[in-house]
Amino acid sequence: MSNSGPLRGSVSTGGSKNAVLPLLAATLLTDETCVLDGVPDLKDVEVMCRLLRSFGAEVEQDAAGRRIAVTAGRIATCEAPPDLAKAMRASVVAMGPLLARCGEATIPLPGGCAIGDRPIDLHVKGFLALGADVEILTDESGAGCVRATAGRPAGTEMYLDFASVGATENIMMAAVLTPGTTVIENPAQEPEIVDLANFLNKMGARIRGAGTDAIRIEGVQALHGAEHSVIPDRIEAATFMLAAAITRGDVLVENMLPNHVVPVIAKLRECGVRIREEDAGLRVDGTAGGFRATDIKTLPYPGFPTDIQPQFMAFLATANGPSNIVETVFENRFLHIEELNRMGAGILAEGRRAIVRGGAHLHGAAVRATDLRAGAALVLAGLVADGETTVADVYHIDRGYEDLVGKLEGLGADIRRMKNGGPQDSVDRRVFAE
Ligand code: EPZ
Repeated sequence: MSNSGPLRGSVSTGGSKNAVLPLLAATLLTDETCVLDGVPDLKDVEVMCRLLRSFGAEVEQDAAGRRIAVTAGRIATCEAPPDLAKAMRASVVAMGPLLARCGEATIPLPGGCAIGDRPIDLHVKGFLALGADVEILTDESGAGCVRATAGRPAGTEMYLDFASVGATENIMMAAVLTPGTTVIENPAQEPEIVDLANFLNKMGARIRGAGTDAIRIEGVQALHGAEHSVIPDRIEAATFMLAAAITRGDVLVENMLPNHVVPVIAKLRECGVRIREEDAGLRVDGTAGGFRATDIKTLPYPGFPTDIQPQFMAFLATANGPSNIVETVFENRFLHIEELNRMGAGILAEGRRAIVRGGAHLHGAAVRATDLRAGAALVLAGLVADGETTVADVYHIDRGYEDLVGKLEGLGADIRRMKNGGPQDSVDRRVFAE
């Protein structure tokens, strides 16, 4: 890609990746058919569907892939195949439903990733609190896996030391069929948690307090099938808001919920970006330019979302003056800094704090996506850098963004996907490498 000039037009947000993955896992809790609508076309969704099939569920997707019907009539196995489970950390949220439905679940230890060790101690703490037995095993290849068996399931009160999204989802799904009352103190409060609780309640669960600082679950005998539409992806929406800001463009982001991105709206307004709600969505007007610096500290919801930290950092590199960014959620979520600095971003990282000098005139470079949101940040930087930028390893981006290239092209971006690392069209200087 190369300097695209100000993006203009409207772009529609798809269904939320971080909502649809636990929603799909939740379909294991009933032998009846569940239908999810508004499903995004993402690599991670494909992996989760294959994982559900590996447990014995029937999974049908309509031609457009937006509607998925799952019938987990018979669970053939409660062990996740290592290749699938390791391909996607979120596979771990299949444990809770399997434990609740079948009394057992075995998942390869998800292991860390680029942004952090990603332990599952809080998931395990929750299963133990619900009366399950949990053991860490190593298979013949020496790979670790975690096995939970029902033991004497009983409702309980538990406190999460960190408001972990995945742990909250897993424990909620394990508790819906556990006799008695379960209270999760200090749960994650993300919109994706609320969406999961809403779907589970449609299935006959009795959950109250999702989205607050305590979730109360009354166990029931069984759940039934249900239909549900996935909430819009707040991280994708916020990424397009930042695309408008960094290119000094004027973009209407449609099919999104402004109250899911309050910190991002507030911070962009602090920088001087004009944002107003319209009937069709959120209009982000960055045409005035001359943006002020601001400081960012990522926190669990409703704090500033860690999944927007890399993209916001790229934007702040072009604002006037120094900004401080503190990443409190993941221990290693600054891998994009080295790549952004190859484009002249002028960012200094010290532990979990980064200092963005600001006022950068980014120049094109060959950079590499290290993880999903870092890749998105590099694309945003490439849209305003002088000269050509290639982003390698874009498979990271495909995990969480549906047709990012096409959507940005639709806003006037000068961007193109490459195959095999070489430009498809020598005339076309716009590249977006595989
Ligand atoms: C979810 O990951 C999201 N993924 C992540 O989005 C998101 O960044 C994260 O929540 C935080 O909002 C999905 O929903 C599929 P956590 P999750 O458990 O559940 C520590 C993206 O870009 N922790 O809230 O894995 C952990 O190490 C992805 O879309 C424990 O210590 O996140 C991390 O530092 C990236 N013990 C922090 O909590 C545990 O048992 C947040 O983890 C679990 C987590």
